[in-house]
Amino acid sequence: MAENLIVSDGNKEQQYQTLLPQIESLLAGETDVIANMANIAAALKQTFNFFWVGFYRVKEDVLVLAPFQGPLACTRIRRGKGVCGTAWEEARTQVVPDVDQFPGHIACSSDSKSEIVVPVIHNDKVVAVLDIDSDTLNSFDQTDASYLESICKMLSATYPQTGHEAFLYY
Ligand code: SME
Repeated sequence: MAENLIVSDGNKEQQYQTLLPQIESLLAGETDVIANMANIAAALKQTFNFFWVGFYRVKEDVLVLAPFQGPLACTRIRRGKGVCGTAWEEARTQVVPDVDQFPGHIACSSDSKSEIVVPVIHNDKVVAVLDIDSDTLNSFDQTDASYLESICKMLSATYPQTGHEAFLYY
């Protein structure tokens, strides 16, 4: 397992290209999704120094805060509410250039200016979302969406497939 993260000093694309294989090796052989979320959040924070990066997990009818890096955050978000609840309901990545223009945006921090939320889909269901907040406007684009979706697919692949353990996570 990689112990020191290598961070490219190139452009965003190069930074993601350096990061992805390291995330792949961090997740290799680890089936605990909380541990995997924790390392993904840390690796993204260390690479990009985002204001806030973390996960919310679907627990019955609500998203519940999971591993994150950054300031304290709201613990529960209902389906369809805010950017996270919308990504869950629509099962689709949300790129928000200006959070003030997103109807129903939930402001965990007034410092958050732009946001991207990517659903983690397992067995055709949204099981979690990856939420990243920036303290500047227009921080995220299709490059982020595409690489972060790849990271969420890697995470999804570490979820248990069937049986009792799967029940624990859902
Ligand atoms: N802004 C999010 C809430 C979560 S925090 O940003 C960490 C939303 O509108 O769903």
